[in-house]
Amino acid sequence: MCRGKCVVVFVVLTFLWTFNRADDIQVSCDFMESCILPCRFRSGDEVVIHWIQKRTKDTQAHSYYHNQDQLGLQDQRFRGRTSLFKDQISRGNASLRLTGVEVQDQGRYKCYTSTITGNKESYINLNVDAPVDKVDIQQVENRITCSSEGIFPQPELTWSTSPPSNVSLENNPTVQQTEQLLYNINSSLIASVTDLVYSCTVSTRTNKRTATLFKLTSISGSDTETTIPCESLNPPLTGLVWRFNHSQIILKPDRSQRPLHSLRGVEAAGEECV
Ligand SMILES: *[C@@H]1O[C@H](CO)[C@@H](O)[C@H](O)[C@H]1NC(C)=O
Ligand SMILES: *[C@@H]1O[C@H](CO)[C@@H](O)[C@H](O)[C@H]1NC(C)=O
Ligand SMILES: *[C@@H]1O[C@H](CO)[C@@H](O)[C@H](O)[C@H]1NC(C)=O
Ligand SMILES: *[C@@H]1O[C@H](CO)[C@@H](O)[C@H](O)[C@H]1NC(C)=O
Repeated sequence: MCRGKCVVVFVVLTFLWTFNRADDIQVSCDFMESCILPCRFRSGDEVVIHWIQKRTKDTQAHSYYHNQDQLGLQDQRFRGRTSLFKDQISRGNASLRLTGVEVQDQGRYKCYTSTITGNKESYINLNVDAPVDKVDIQQVENRITCSSEGIFPQPELTWSTSPPSNVSLENNPTVQQTEQLLYNINSSLIASVTDLVYSCTVSTRTNKRTATLFKLTSISGSDTETTIPCESLNPPLTGLVWRFNHSQIILKPDRSQRPLHSLRGVEAAGEECV
C-alpha cells in the first residue's frame, strides 16, 4: 500500500522536477536578441559554475572552474553565444549572458554553483518570443489573402469586417514552420460582399497586429491632379501601402521608424486609384 503511494509521489516529484516549476525564475527573450539568465550564490573560494539546459537529455550550456571557462563539453548549439560576467563571479553573480537567442533555447535551465562552503542549484525558465512584425493583406480578383512571417510561438489569425457583418469568414489558416522553428501563417477568403472593409489580425503571446484592406471607390479631381482619400481610423496606422489595380505598389512610405514591438498596430493597403 504505502509502497504504491510512495512511487506515485516520487513520479509526481520527478515530473515536477524535470519540467517547468512554479518557482522557477521566468525570463523572456526576443528571437535573435541577447538576454541574461540570472543566478546568485554565496561567494567563496574554488568556484564551480555549471549552466545546464534541461531537455530530455541534459545539455551543457556553459561551465566554469579553476578560475576559467571550461567549454570542452559545451553543446555546440551554444558555441560562441554564452558568457559569464567574470568580474562579478567573486561577488556571487553567476548570471549567464546568452546572445543570438534561438527558439531551441526556450526551456528550463539549471544553474549549479559550488564553493568550498557548499553548493546550490537554481532554476530559470526561458521563454523565446518572435513577435508579429508585419502583416500583409492583398486582393487578387475577389480573393483576399493575409499573411505574416517569422513568428513564435504559434500565431493565430482572425478575419473581421467593417461594418461587422455575418458574411462567412471561412478561416483555415495555413501554418508552416521554418528551419529556425518560426511560424509563417496565411489565410485567404472570397470577398463575397464588395462594400465591406476586410481586416486580418495575427496574434501571438506578446503582441498582435492588424492589416486592413481599404477600398477607395469615390475619387474626385481634375485631369491633371487627383486626390484619393484614405482616411483612418482608430487606432492610428503604423504602415500603409497604396496599390494600383490590386497589385502594383505605387506608394509605400518608409516604415523604419515604426515601433517594432508595439502591442497593437494597424497596416493598410489602399486600393484602386486612377
Ligand atoms: C550580474 O552582473 C551583471 C553584469 O554586471 C548584471 O547585469 C546582472 O544583473 C547581475 N546579476 C545578478 C543576479 O546580480
Ligand atoms: C445575413 O444577414 C442578412 C440580413 O441582415 C440576412 O438576409 C442573411 O440571410 C444573413 N446571412 C447569413 C449567412 O446568416
Ligand atoms: C500560403 O501558404 C501556402 C502553403 O504553404 C503557400 O503555398 C503560399 O505561397 C502562401 N501564400 C502567401 C501569400 O504567403
Ligand atoms: C490590372 O491587372 C490585370 C490582371 O492582374 C491586368 O490584366 C490588367 O491589364 C491590369 N490593368 C492595368 C490598367 O494595369
